[in-house]
Amino acid sequence: MGSFHILPGFRDFYPDDCALRNFIFDHFRRSAQACGFEEYDAPVLEPTELFAAKSGEEIVGQLFSFEDKGGRAVAMRPEMTPSLARMVGERANSMKRPIKWFNISESFRYERPQKGRLRSFYQFNADLFGDNSPEADCEIISLGILILKSFGLAKDDFHVRLSDRKLWALFLRCSGVDDSEIPCALSVIDKIEREVPATIVANLEKIKNVDGERMFGDILAIKNIRSLENLGKFFEKFCAMEREVEDRISEFSKLLARLNAFGLGNFITVDFGIVRGLAYYTGFVFEIFERSGQSRALAGGGRYDSLIKKLGYGDLAAVGFAIGDVTLGNLLKEKGFVPTFPKNIHCFVIYSEQTEAIAMEHIFALREKNINVDHCLRPTNFSKQLKAAAQSGAKYAIIFGDSEVQMECAKVKDMETSEEKIVKIQDFVKKL
Ligand code: HAM
Repeated sequence: MGSFHILPGFRDFYPDDCALRNFIFDHFRRSAQACGFEEYDAPVLEPTELFAAKSGEEIVGQLFSFEDKGGRAVAMRPEMTPSLARMVGERANSMKRPIKWFNISESFRYERPQKGRLRSFYQFNADLFGDNSPEADCEIISLGILILKSFGLAKDDFHVRLSDRKLWALFLRCSGVDDSEIPCALSVIDKIEREVPATIVANLEKIKNVDGERMFGDILAIKNIRSLENLGKFFEKFCAMEREVEDRISEFSKLLARLNAFGLGNFITVDFGIVRGLAYYTGFVFEIFERSGQSRALAGGGRYDSLIKKLGYGDLAAVGFAIGDVTLGNLLKEKGFVPTFPKNIHCFVIYSEQTEAIAMEHIFALREKNINVDHCLRPTNFSKQLKAAAQSGAKYAIIFGDSEVQMECAKVKDMETSEEKIVKIQDFVKKL
């Protein structure tokens, strides 16, 4: 054992792990492109301030942050959304809308490492700007479902828990909470499953005009509602803002209707237990969970129509989500959806000391033609080289034997059928 250890919550990616990561990323990229999203990227290190004001206190407490040599306060990104909002804000006026972008990259959060949660992880992000309709929300949610389906996961494996911060805000207003305190109230509600009731009641009591016990009861009632109809009934008894509630429920119905039109109704659970921990969300919010409810969220997102303006740019509607590689990778392994990853060597070249030079010439020429070629680095006896060829998984062994080379030929052996052919060297790229 050496004396260096990897930091807690970070991962080494051995070739098998890299193959799984690439497999996951390929699915992300293909699904995003299938939905017309374009790829972008941003720096991993940003001014701390970008996250401090925008992401919410929970994430800010988890920042990997430090002072750089120029005395700037900088942080490794804990999420992509603030960087993306800055990038889009900078160019929003010159871009055709809706803007549909995606990214795959690493983020860092100083969390307690546990199953499904690490300090360094990859996220696929997809965001849509310049359209505030439920159809835009649907475009994002359906992409999340498309990705998971592309791995073979089905409606019995996962579901999207869909909720709405606007309806939560209406509830809070009806309960007498000032607009300025709504973000704080939402963050108390978000933590309900993680705190004991006495703490929640005490936190609610800190909000002006709130009877903690009573509001706690109402919140639990809303969290158990699973249909818009029942939500409407709850509000009827409770709230004077009928018009606003009705309008919002009708927007929610539109979103559900569009998801149904995509054939995705079975993947959706209306679930007001979802509030989301990030501060910038303003409308529909959702998280994707494994059905069994065993693991942490696979993905999360929602609408954030005021973030870009808060960064000092113009008004721009925004909705997006991110899916992480950790919980998803665990789920794929558990369900047996991870294939084996061959090394993908097409040819293994075998040669002697006498034929080494000509073999090298051809190895390089084949590689230039994007044919994957491996060899033993130095000539050893042919049986050892043939064994290495078999272990490499190559489809063909190309044998530069002394007598074949004298005839300007090589022997091509099909490693599956053991069939051998003598082929003119000039012809064998065509014949492979
Ligand atoms: P989030 O819910 O914080 O949202 O993260 C999205 C997903 O990233 C999670 O569901 C999880 O799969 C993964 N993830 C987050 N933290 C960790 C961690 N410590 N270890 C492993 N995986 C993790 C966001 O980040 C928003 N920026 C998403 C978004 C994009 N909203 C709008 N656009």
